[in-house]
Amino acid sequence: MLPAEEIARRRTFAIISHPDAGKTTLTEKLLLYGGATQLAGTVGARKAQRAATSDWMELEKKRGISITSTVLQFDYRGYRLNLLDTPGHRDFSEDTYRVLTAVDAVIMVIDAGKGIETQTRKLFEVCRQRGVPIFTFMNKMDRPTREPLALLDELESVLGIAAFPVNWPLGTGFEFRGVFDRQAKAVHLFERLPGGGAYVAPVNVTDLADPIVKEKLDPDAYARAVEELEMLEIAGAEYDQATVLAGKQTPVFFGSAMNNFGVQLLLDNFLDRSAPPGARVAGADHEEIPPTNPDFSGFVFKIQANMDPRHRDRIAFVRVVSGRFDRDMQVTHSRTGKKVRLSNAHRLFAQDRETVEEAWPGDIVGLVGHSEFGIGDTLSADPAVVYHEIPRFPPEVFAFLHNPNTGKFKQFRQGLDQLLQEGVMQVFHLADSLSKVPLLAAVGPLQFEVVQYRLETEYGAASRLETAPWQAAKWLPPGTDTTILKLPTDVRIATDAVGAPAVLFPNDWTQRYFTEVNPNVPLLDLPT
Ligand code: G4P
Repeated sequence: MLPAEEIARRRTFAIISHPDAGKTTLTEKLLLYGGATQLAGTVGARKAQRAATSDWMELEKKRGISITSTVLQFDYRGYRLNLLDTPGHRDFSEDTYRVLTAVDAVIMVIDAGKGIETQTRKLFEVCRQRGVPIFTFMNKMDRPTREPLALLDELESVLGIAAFPVNWPLGTGFEFRGVFDRQAKAVHLFERLPGGGAYVAPVNVTDLADPIVKEKLDPDAYARAVEELEMLEIAGAEYDQATVLAGKQTPVFFGSAMNNFGVQLLLDNFLDRSAPPGARVAGADHEEIPPTNPDFSGFVFKIQANMDPRHRDRIAFVRVVSGRFDRDMQVTHSRTGKKVRLSNAHRLFAQDRETVEEAWPGDIVGLVGHSEFGIGDTLSADPAVVYHEIPRFPPEVFAFLHNPNTGKFKQFRQGLDQLLQEGVMQVFHLADSLSKVPLLAAVGPLQFEVVQYRLETEYGAASRLETAPWQAAKWLPPGTDTTILKLPTDVRIATDAVGAPAVLFPNDWTQRYFTEVNPNVPLLDLPT
């Protein structure tokens, strides 16, 4: 296939949702369409299987949450889909945010019984800032739900995104009978069977007056569906492809992931309406690098060590932006400026991996064994191409991490360095302290739990956590003379992992006070 064709058939996306809205279930069903039936089983049995192959994922099992991100690749209708799994727990938002830099679109799953929940809102915000196109799946239509119009309203009023329902539910809850495809003018009927629901092939109808529809619905539900659809036609927004691709209008689909109802409609529409990988901005002069640029380039958005004890190694996940990736190719590594050979490249499916010989823009490649690669680094054939895609997030919780066993100092240090490189947390050192105890900083406390667990299970190093009183870190411009700063009680000066000076605050009040007594000292959200 020609490069342009390879690019045109790629779709790289993530599913975002509040925990329990149905992301895992939807993923599993999407994979069924990819002819990946046996692999879909892998995802279904994910929690159990992970525990069997990787011991650090026991933590996931214990907590019932998904911490790691997995990349799933499957083919459907001639398209090649790269689905990046995002951790759902709020403490892992930083990791999730990084994953979102590597996708070109997202599917937002909403539990139609609950509407928009906190985590959805936060993740949506990141997508909006990046202008990522968003497709919405209103899930769990087989159960009592909020009013469909109220759900649309909420998208517009809470998230501020225009909504275009591609299909519309016929009845809700126990009366849910299917959806009406507004553009294709077809009904997709949902039949309830003992133990679940079933999908019935679409029936073409010109409108809801068709007896096929009328006789399936009770008169009240029927009258309501007719009225709602009329309202949408008259007062609803028109579909606009450019607005969808700009992330300002979201196509909305109703269905039930568990019953595999409405999932294929979502997938088909998603493929028809989403865009292949586009250009990314590189370098200080904001030059756009199109995917068709013949020179290979990509950036590291995630690093994960010890994913599988059978391999015991470190994987840097690279999103290909332009050109063709070939195994064994030589590229420049932006951080060191050195040439590196990319010989150990893998494609991952759940816990299994296979060697990648070639990859195209939109694909994700897992590079094994390059300890010099860090999150945000660019790998490119042309050294002038450097991406700045990865945002950093200010920490909100702090704790000292003690090593209670001096005999294990080496393991403790090695493990900590590795986890820092993975970006699991940040580290500070208090400027006026002789103590060598690292001060860890994270977006949420669960990250500390992961650090301790992984130090113990992967490096054999026990640790003790001592909560620290700070809630915010602000960076100072390089070269600031910290000795003349007036520090309110409990406010401390610290340096981050690369020695950049920062101020630690226990609360908002001390931060405001600091600004008043040091009026000429700017506080920065992130290091320069
Ligand atoms: P998540 O990854 O977003 O956290 O959600 P997940 O898919 O694990 O789904 C959360 C729960 O919601 C699961 O139930 C799942 O079966 C259920 N669910 C998903 N889609 C639908 C749907 O369309 N209708 C209904 N009624 N339920 C749905 P669980 O009891 O927590 O787990 P399980 O024992 O069923 O696996």
